Amino acid sequence: MDYEHNSWIWEGVNYYPRVFGGLMVTAALLGLSTSYFGGIGVPYLSLPCSWSNLGIFHKKKSGKRRIRVYMDGCFDLMHYGHANALRQAKALGDELVVGLVSDEEIVANKGPPVLSMSERLALVSGLKWVDEVITDAPYAITEKFLDRLFHEYKIDYVIHGDDPCLLPDGTDAYAAAKKAGRYKQIKRTEGVSSTDIVGRILSSLRNKKSCEDHNGSEVKPQEENPSQASHIAQFLPTSRRIVQFSNGKGPGPNARIVYIDGAFDLFHAGHVEILKKARELGDFLLVGIHSDETVSEHRGNHYPIMHLHERSLSVLASRYVDEVIIGSPWEITKDMITTFNISLVVHGTIAEKSLNCELDPYEVPKSMGIFRLLESPKDITTATVAQRIMANHEAYVVISSIRFFISIFASQDLTNLQILIGIVNLLFECIRPI
Ligand SMILES: *[C@@H]1O[C@H](CO)[C@@H](O)[C@H](O)[C@H]1NC(C)=O
Ligand SMILES: *[C@@H]1O[C@H](CO)[C@@H](O)[C@H](O)[C@H]1NC(C)=O
Repeated sequence: MDYEHNSWIWEGVNYYPRVFGGLMVTAALLGLSTSYFGGIGVPYLSLPCSWSNLGIFHKKKSGKRRIRVYMDGCFDLMHYGHANALRQAKALGDELVVGLVSDEEIVANKGPPVLSMSERLALVSGLKWVDEVITDAPYAITEKFLDRLFHEYKIDYVIHGDDPCLLPDGTDAYAAAKKAGRYKQIKRTEGVSSTDIVGRILSSLRNKKSCEDHNGSEVKPQEENPSQASHIAQFLPTSRRIVQFSNGKGPGPNARIVYIDGAFDLFHAGHVEILKKARELGDFLLVGIHSDETVSEHRGNHYPIMHLHERSLSVLASRYVDEVIIGSPWEITKDMITTFNISLVVHGTIAEKSLNCELDPYEVPKSMGIFRLLESPKDITTATVAQRIMANHEAYVVISSIRFFISIFASQDLTNLQILIGIVNLLFECIRPI
């Protein structure tokens, strides 16, 4: 029986190779057919979706007490590396409680965050592995807070990455938890960091500028330029990682399948909310993620910031998403609607404009009467996020330079003067091109 469904998907891939040009990732494809159609629905969606009063949903299970694990972070500029860390943390217990560092604490410790608390909360609580969120975690964990975690929140284990975390006085922030035998470590492996993303946006904005200087249309999207090439090689998607992020379930026999597509670049709170809205309109949400070439063609040469596989992981990590098409076509065809048995195609009212809009990609679903425009819940786009990240980065460079300057004068150690001059140069280098 399962086999039949699987071949239904295979047929799609085989019959319309030109249409999809990408890869339909399902657990079946990756050889996990046993539980493929076993589950019913998405358990999380029955959860209360207001995240303001958190600390709610403990799934009741008779007998054994559920292990509660805790992991904290700023989760500013959220990316799939964070999602992967939280996925690993969740695997060490039954319920994952995430501690979000408050805006005030971030400001005090490293300057203003790019994303506000409400945006960071939307992103973190939208992850399929997160069960609860605490919104007033300290920047560096304290013994007092640990005590609260163990007693008030009934945490069994505190989880942290394998990078050392030292308090200002040089002691290990997790010493108390380690001593109590309630500390567990995960590996930080993912080939992306917030700094890396800032670098990409920086070089992307530089590219944009140089394109404009050369009068835009002259520059072909395919043209390989060094900055783009250099940020391509970092992340190597493996099939195992994709499986780890997948639900591993196909649609049930009578499922109403909703389709939404887009670039989902620099995955942000606006994306989370539109996915949630889309998922509520059916039983199964299929998300089409446009290929890098398609995004460049329609949004400009300097996009996307994140590559197809990175964008796919970010979308897959969302609790509202059931399945993704990695590299979906720009235009939705009749074949595609039939193959995936799509009942409804949706699109947000707020989206980046296409450069070549001679053709309506939603013409077919519109003519079939299965298209719906969804009011975008948040007035936020990839471009606005990128701008905020850059503005924030400049402020950060200025602040840390000033701090460094002060520290040198305080210590009167002039051997650092050379470094200081270097930093000032770097500072101007960073700010000038924007
Ligand atoms: C760019 O091209 C337009 C015509 O397409 C022209 O009017 C304009 O002067 C050009 N700008 C530069 C900087 O060459
Ligand atoms: C296609 O979707 C509809 C619901 O919109 C469902 O009733 C039908 O069974 C589905 N067909 C297949 C072949 O899964």
